[in-house]
Amino acid sequence: MDKQDIKEFVNSNKERFLDELFKLIRIPSVSADPAFKDDVRKAAEFVKSSLLESGADLAEICETEGHPIVYGEKIIDPSLPVVLVYGHYDVQPADPYELWDSPPFEPEIRDDKIYARGSCDDKGQMFMHIKAMEVMNSLNDFPCNIKFIIEGEEEVGSDNLEVFIRNNIEKLKTDVVLISDTTIIANDTPSITSGLRGLSYVQVEVTGPNRDLHSGVYGGAVDNPINVLCSMIDKLRDENNRITIPGFYDEVQELTQEERVQLNSAPFNLDEYKKDLEIDEVEGEKGYTTLERTGIRPTVDVNGIWGGYTGEGAKTVLPSKASAKISMRLVPNQDSERITKLFTSYFKSLAPKSVNVEVTPHHGGQPVVTPTDSIAFKAASNAIEESWGKTPIPTRDGGSIPIVALFKETLDSDTVLMGFGLDSDAIHSPNEHYGLFNFFKGIETIPLFHQHFARLFK
Ligand code: BES
Ligand code: MN
Ligand code: MN
Repeated sequence: MDKQDIKEFVNSNKERFLDELFKLIRIPSVSADPAFKDDVRKAAEFVKSSLLESGADLAEICETEGHPIVYGEKIIDPSLPVVLVYGHYDVQPADPYELWDSPPFEPEIRDDKIYARGSCDDKGQMFMHIKAMEVMNSLNDFPCNIKFIIEGEEEVGSDNLEVFIRNNIEKLKTDVVLISDTTIIANDTPSITSGLRGLSYVQVEVTGPNRDLHSGVYGGAVDNPINVLCSMIDKLRDENNRITIPGFYDEVQELTQEERVQLNSAPFNLDEYKKDLEIDEVEGEKGYTTLERTGIRPTVDVNGIWGGYTGEGAKTVLPSKASAKISMRLVPNQDSERITKLFTSYFKSLAPKSVNVEVTPHHGGQPVVTPTDSIAFKAASNAIEESWGKTPIPTRDGGSIPIVALFKETLDSDTVLMGFGLDSDAIHSPNEHYGLFNFFKGIETIPLFHQHFARLFK
């Protein structure tokens, strides 16, 4: 099987590949919202059928305490290396619906891009691997054994996948984990992700008086939980945008000057970045570039904040409670649980006596760096070079995939993050999209990865 055969097969099946992906996208598999529970299962069933139709010799639905996991495999010869493909078929909620130019679960092609929730994250990217298996099957050339583990709870923290992996170490045994759920720099500038940030996520609730009060009768004399919450949040960062939580930076790995130069040598246009977001200036930790701020530095951000009266018109009220969802993106070697603890005690210490503060941890995930000198990384690099005609640049992505750290710990396997999305694909936002170029280029590149990995593994 050479590059040309692969290309020809993909070219003559483009329409059908898209049709199939669209069927998957039309199933609104929103893992966070119990109202979509049945759809999440339907998406799992669809993935299972696709695996079987695309050449897998086994595909099964594995029940968990939450949404099901789909496991599949194509074992050619036990002496060949194993590639374990991980992906997720669940998607983020699509709201606010009114901001979509076309309905989120009715995929539509505009400007050579597929517009729909999950088109990029991660249905489109995960499905490339299933179709790449079909390509290898049709060309009757499997350089490696393939295993698939496709979950339905990535967007809610992968808690049940962790249990599944710990209980199925032998079954999942592999020589590399291959994931397409990240981004490249640009379509003419391929890259391979060599690091992901971790996550620590909490919800906080500030309670003042036992009931909502008249803001004239009591205002000025009783502390307002929203005012208090805002000032507590403000104290989480200093004037240089450094996080003030004691001990927060203790484990942060500082990069060497050389590593920083290398990281900043990746093509990046700040003006275009600002233009795309329609902002006049970027803001972040003093002393670091934008690429560093998203790639190798930790953050604290409010994701949502509520309390008091937010309806039509004006209601003069001094609220009893205020709440916020706060996330921290972590970098090596910060530990998600430790950071959650540090946050909790610092945040509580910021509270004046006039209020009570509760902090409830949500899911988290550990940060990861993947080696760039492994056989697997070289295989990805060679595959991309072959299909793009350009050597990919290693990059650090700002997002999180909680399970990656666990693959290393439990399966003792490195992961290759060979994603094909773009930062501008609007994942998690209205009008999420995925380029047709990226979808088909991905399908063409994946079989080449299998080839190079098998060759280098010997
Ligand atoms: N695919 C993303 C993560 C991602 C996006 C990595 C872009 C690199 C570049 C993944 O589906 C995701 O959204 N993860 C969540 C974490 C989860 C615990 C909710 C995230 O990063 O917020
Ligand atoms: Mn994803
Ligand atoms: Mn996501």
